[in-house]
Parts: sequence; C-alpha cells; structure tokens
Amino acid sequence: MAMNYEIVRLKPDTELKGFDCGNEDINNFLVEDSIDYQNGLLAVTYLAVADNRILSYFCLLNDKLAYLPGDDKTSWNRLNRKINNHKRLKSYPAVKIGRLGTQKDISGQGVGREIIDYVKFLFVRSNKTGCRFLTVDAHKDAIGFYLKCGFSFFTESDRDDETRLMYFDLKPFKDALAL
Ligand SMILES: CC(C)(COP(=O)(O)OP(=O)(O)OC[C@H]1O[C@@H](n2cnc3c(N)ncnc32)[C@H](O)[C@@H]1OP(=O)(O)O)[C@@H](O)C(=O)NCCC(=O)NCCS
Repeated sequence: MAMNYEIVRLKPDTELKGFDCGNEDINNFLVEDSIDYQNGLLAVTYLAVADNRILSYFCLLNDKLAYLPGDDKTSWNRLNRKINNHKRLKSYPAVKIGRLGTQKDISGQGVGREIIDYVKFLFVRSNKTGCRFLTVDAHKDAIGFYLKCGFSFFTESDRDDETRLMYFDLKPFKDALAL
C-alpha cells in the first residue's frame, strides 16, 4: 500500500535523531554531517517525512560521468553510444545520489523506489542545468535495489569492490514521458 509523506529539504532545526536504516554510515551521516555538507554546498539532503517522522532520506550532489583512467574502453564506449554522434563529449553531466536510506521498519514498502522516481522526475522536469545521468556508488548490499530501479553498472573494474558505480540514463526516461 502506498505511504503518505512529503519530501522536504533539510533545515538547520530539523530533528534528526532516531533514524535507523540498518547502515551505520548512512545513519551517522544524517545526524553528524548532513547539515555541514549542506552549509558547505557539498550535498543537499532531502527527507521523506510523515507525522514528524523521517521515513527515508537521500542526498544529491553534482557529478559527471567520464572515462576512468586505466579502465578498458568498453564501458565508456557503451555509454557513448547512447549519445548522438555529434553531441559526444569527454564527460557528461550527472547528479549523484550521495546517500539513500529507508527506516528499517518500513523497508520493502516502496519508499526507496518512489524516491528514485522523484529524483528522476526532478532532473527531467525542473533542472536548471544539463543533467543526463543519475549516478550512485551502490553498496554491494543495495545493488539489487538499484538494478530494480533501472540503473546499470558503469564499469566491470569495480565488480569486486564494496561499492559499485551505477548510472541511470535520463534521456530515454524523458522521451518515454514525452516531455
Ligand atoms: C536500499 C534501500 C534504500 C531500499 O529502500 P526501500 O524503501 O526498502 O526500497 P523499496 O521498498 O522501494 O524496494 C524497491 C524494490 O527493490 C527491492 N529491494 C529493496 N532493497 C533491496 C536490496 N537491498 N537488495 C535487493 N533488492 C532490494 C524491493 O524488494 C523492491 O522489489 P519489488 O519491486 O520487486 O518488490 C533500503 O533497504 C536501505 O535503506 N538500506 C540500507 C542502506 C543502504 O544500503 N542504502 C543504499 C546505499 S548505496
């Protein structure tokens, strides 16, 4: 069943205690670092809130996708083929989902996917600068979630790492919406 909540930008006076998504790093970032990152213009945090309770949160920051030095060219060429020949660049503008966590007691109820959809819409409807891709450094435990949300691996060189760089191409998404 769909949950009712609103997505709000973090404010200095927001009560942040009591959030637990099961990942210490993500829990701690919200309480200890999110406001400093926001003040330092490094990442903006958004909260999904219902009845004064944080159900989920995520951060956004500017990013780019570029050829990774030392990587084989296969992944980069695959990504480049998505772009019209005359528009190919050395790197492409992107936005990174820096962190995403859903309260443990409501996980698996669709809030994470709705947040990813919200971000996809945000950057095809009302973005003020070019942004072709969403990116995420997906923790290996969350890779299945991002695959379900339509993300792909950017390279094979990180396949044994704790996190893998994944991306979502916003252009086919935008075209499907006929925007
Ligand atoms: C990963 C996370 C954000 C997903 O949030 P959520 O609100 O539970 O996700 P949803 O309920 O929207 O799940 C959407 C789909 O992904 C699946 N899914 C959710 N988490 C998954 C995971 N870790 N691995 C594989 N599939 C997952 C769900 O079963 C669901 O599948 P369905 O559509 O077939 O039913 C949440 O589990 C979480 O906070 N995890 C701990 C922190 C973390 O690892 N964050 C990611 C850091 S990169």
